[in-house]
Amino acid sequence: MKASATQPNRNKTNLLVDIAIFVAFLVAMAPRFSGVAVHEWLGIAFGAAIVTHLLLHWQWLVEVTRRFFSKAAPSARVNYVLNALLFIDVTLIIFSGLLISRAALPALGLTVAIGGSWRGIHETTANLFLPLIGLHVALHWQWIANMFKRFVFAPLAGRRAPQLAASSQKEAH
Ligand code: HEM
Repeated sequence: MKASATQPNRNKTNLLVDIAIFVAFLVAMAPRFSGVAVHEWLGIAFGAAIVTHLLLHWQWLVEVTRRFFSKAAPSARVNYVLNALLFIDVTLIIFSGLLISRAALPALGLTVAIGGSWRGIHETTANLFLPLIGLHVALHWQWIANMFKRFVFAPLAGRRAPQLAASSQKEAH
């Protein structure tokens, strides 16, 4: 995806949602560290963040779906297939998570007595997410680097520039 100069707010929203997804995934990968209740609610919030991510990129999704077998660029096709795999994988992670839920669903008054192989499916699909998201990040690396430069590093440098100027003025006196 290209960084749009005319849509700074849209880009900032995308960056914030993507960072939230990334952090939620890192914490969700360590249920023993967070505790099972935090793990489950965070996993559900992760699902909502993924839906938001999809809605924010809906235009791209519709366009590539329409042109997939005709004039879509090869890179867009690779991206599309990878995104479809990620979507299936995330759906399986959350679906299997709900089926083995011990905290979130019982808290809502729902009981699921399903366990067995869903636990294995949950773990396998969560592990599969790692290489898939690694490729997804690699394919969007240029956009990620541009956004960090624009919304993180440039403002930090801007904040520090007057301080540096003030301290070098003091030194000169
Ligand atoms: C970002 C989404 C999620 C990721 C990456 C994820 C990942 C994991 C991983 C890696 C484990 C450890 C598996 C093992 O050692 O056997 C686990 C366990 C578990 N997950 Fe998830 N999960 C996610 C979402 C969910 C959701 C939405 C629920 C339920 C609402 C859920 C419920 C559980 C339960 C009950 C366990 C077993 C915990 C235990 O017995 O200590 N997970 N998950």
